[in-house]
Amino acid sequence: MNIGIDRLSFHTSNYYVDLKTIAEARSVDPEKYYIGIGQEKMSIPSPDEDVVTLAASAAYPLMKDGELDDVELLLFATESGIDQSKAAGIYVHGLLEMPSRCRTVELKQACYSGTAGLQFAIGFVARNPEKKALVIASDIARYELGSPGEATQGCGAVAMLVSANPRLMAIEPECGYYTADVMDFWRPNYRSEALVDGKYSAMVYIHALLESWKQYAELSNRTLADFDRFCYHIPFTKMAEKAYQKLAQKLKFKMSKEESHALLEESLRYSRITGNCYAASMYVGLLSLLETAEDDLAGKRIGLYSYGSGCVGEFFSGVVQPGYREFLYTDQHRNLLENRTKLTYQQYEDIFNYGVPTDGGEYVFPQYKTGPFRFSGISQHKREYESLVD
Ligand code: CAA
Repeated sequence: MNIGIDRLSFHTSNYYVDLKTIAEARSVDPEKYYIGIGQEKMSIPSPDEDVVTLAASAAYPLMKDGELDDVELLLFATESGIDQSKAAGIYVHGLLEMPSRCRTVELKQACYSGTAGLQFAIGFVARNPEKKALVIASDIARYELGSPGEATQGCGAVAMLVSANPRLMAIEPECGYYTADVMDFWRPNYRSEALVDGKYSAMVYIHALLESWKQYAELSNRTLADFDRFCYHIPFTKMAEKAYQKLAQKLKFKMSKEESHALLEESLRYSRITGNCYAASMYVGLLSLLETAEDDLAGKRIGLYSYGSGCVGEFFSGVVQPGYREFLYTDQHRNLLENRTKLTYQQYEDIFNYGVPTDGGEYVFPQYKTGPFRFSGISQHKREYESLVD
């Protein structure tokens, strides 16, 4: 029985800042961002958007299509949790009016937890083939203003329906994973911006890839020649490309830079203009590949590498299913990405510094342009959400 991703939907903020704007403010050559790290724009969440609204907005098309009726497991993966106790997924469960017969929990391991969620969901479906799981990965990437990480911020969420006989991608059973206790990127509870040792984090990302691949290759007997495309975790697009080139080099797999670029390029298109979405990033890459590749990918094997600082890496693979294009939300995603509002530097900095109040007071937030749900205020220490749809 094949198990895997049956539907995949995405949401990001309606606001973005062009990295040229950041470059001008920091007196940096814009080419450092456009070419050096391979990023053009980053999505900036409005003050009435958080990981819950991003997530619920990502999953909303699935709800509208009646895809959530059989879901009995909801896994919410995030690094940007909003509560130390209550799972963010429960707010989403409520906003989407999902059936109460459902297990809901939040998962954390930096940018890796979406993949943990996907693998756990596959285990659940293997035991309950007639049931479905919803895995949501939703994050807001924040680094300090003026820091080297600043140009690699972003935000977004993906909602993945996991089922038997999936219509988009069957996930293959072999996987290689790797854990090591390292401090390359972390965020203590008292901080809203991540701390990162940037160069070291890039080294660990690659080391975890080489180790994960080793186990995957042993179990599957596959070589790089068995893949038609790759999707890597995308903190910035250059990172994914460099990591793939390092792996190919290590395996003495001969290919030109152009050939290597072509294996990843379609998967990088969305991230280049949304920025890092942490746990959602690799899946934004997968959507970008499925939705923008001109070639019909049906029957093609995609190599997937997920990485979360701290750190856990996992290499696994999936095979795209016949007729997959019919079950994508391509037009909706393109429409969202093409119609965002560009922020000036001052607007970006004002939104960055706004911050969710932490003084326990009563707040009503002004309405910005969001998806179908918004974070409308705080009352009695409780976050309040508003549905903008019937
Ligand atoms: N034109 C073209 N290229 C230029 C340029 C110009 N004018 N100026 C600089 N560049 C190039 C540099 O040569 C460099 O390229 P190489 O890496 O190929 O040498 C690239 O632009 C970046 O320049 P720097 O190395 O000087 O950049 P930096 O040190 O200021 O920042 C960074 C880079 C350390 C990655 C920083 O963006 C950062 O800390 N990011 C956050 C951490 C991160 O994303 N880590 C990735 C791995 S961890 C992970 O994946 C988990 C996660 O999601 C966070």
